[in-house]
Amino acid sequence: MLKCPKFSNRLNIMQSLTPFHTFHLPTKASEIIEYTNVEQLLTAWQTATNANQPVLLLGQGSNVLFTDDFHGVVLVNKMQGIEQHEDADFYYLHVQGGQNWHELVKTALSLGIYGLENLALIPGVAGSAPIQNIGAYGVEFANVCDFVDVVHLPTGEHSQLSKEACRFGYRDSIFKHEYKDEYAIIAVGLKLPKAWAPVLNYGSLAQFEPETVTAQQVFEEVCAVRSSKLPNPDEFGNAGSFFKNPVIDAVTFQQIQTAYPHIPNYPQADGTVKLAAGWLIDQCGLKGFQVGGAAVHAQQALVLINKENATGMDIVNLAKAVRQQVRDKFDVELHPEVRFMGKNGEIDSELITR
Ligand code: FAD
Ligand code: EPU
Repeated sequence: MLKCPKFSNRLNIMQSLTPFHTFHLPTKASEIIEYTNVEQLLTAWQTATNANQPVLLLGQGSNVLFTDDFHGVVLVNKMQGIEQHEDADFYYLHVQGGQNWHELVKTALSLGIYGLENLALIPGVAGSAPIQNIGAYGVEFANVCDFVDVVHLPTGEHSQLSKEACRFGYRDSIFKHEYKDEYAIIAVGLKLPKAWAPVLNYGSLAQFEPETVTAQQVFEEVCAVRSSKLPNPDEFGNAGSFFKNPVIDAVTFQQIQTAYPHIPNYPQADGTVKLAAGWLIDQCGLKGFQVGGAAVHAQQALVLINKENATGMDIVNLAKAVRQQVRDKFDVELHPEVRFMGKNGEIDSELITR
């Protein structure tokens, strides 16, 4: 048992992880500690590491799948605070990592600071947003990022990464690579132009006139569309899109398009083409398909849900079956977006869903 008397919010040994992730699976962790400042984070990380216990950093658990109980210490980001300043052209927000993302979007809107409205209703905390470069309705975190503050856990050294240094890509960043293991994100800096330009190129947002639309209208439309398509994790546990949308080369795309002329496709600047994984899964007739207690969501085939008392392995086996059917029908490989957590830490989702 770890001795951390400083933490009044320290929770019980082998505590349920069910409320700490949005799949709401019946998994447990040896210990769960909520931290509200960097000192608590560093102390807890160093104590666990000295005791040879694995450590897992967590925000709101909306992009993770626990395949097993976690035999280690889970550190939950509860660092709060938003600071604001401005110059002639921009508003700047310095947001602590544990701040809820959707609440931040609403706060910015209420302050007349626009540019986050397309990213409304994305679960999770601000400190997790850079990790997979959250994106929706034509906007990505990269578009609003100024910098990311990190701490190196073994030394306690702070540093600030510019937006360029974060190497953002589609559902990707340096935080999934070089900065994956020993760094924690503690805050993010956002830079939002005072001259707001609405982003209206995705789906039903195109109905609005750029000259007259308000950020509030965009916010409401995004919330309405999302609520109609995506299951509420409190009703059916899920982690949003389970797979990334696959990006394929132009020649392969043309072959698929010849066979499926109506295939949704999004040409990329480098000549590759992004496909809609939800459409591919849907075309395999998999909406509602169930393995154990896990199912493909009936409205959005890209979302796998905890339908009835699923285990982590039910979700893994469902993901495997979905991948196989898409491979068989289209010869396209799907790759999980969700991060898989095993007994001792992250495990390679590629290896267990093939
Ligand atoms: P967590 O799931 O807690 O953590 C994610 C990863 O980051 C884990 O590997 C974790 O170990 C690591 N991590 C956590 N905190 C830190 C830290 N401080 N430092 C370093 N590493 C850390 N995503 C989109 O991009 N667009 C969407 O439209 C979208 N819609 C969603 C809809 C639903 C219903 C759900 C459930 C999810 C959706 N997601 C979407 C996925 C998810 O919301 C995002 O990935 C979000 O940023 C995850 O935040 P989190 O705080 O829950 O992260
Ligand atoms: N589609 C189907 N059947 C389905 C689902 C989708 O035919 O069951 C078709 C749609 O009709 C549309 C296309 O596939 O033509 C794309 O669907 P949608 O607009 O719903 O978006 P998506 O590609 O499924 C992506 C992101 C979401 C993000 C939305 C909106 C990924 C992996 N997912 O979903 O992000 O909210 O666009 O921008 O990029 C997440 O990452 O967790 C997530 C929810």
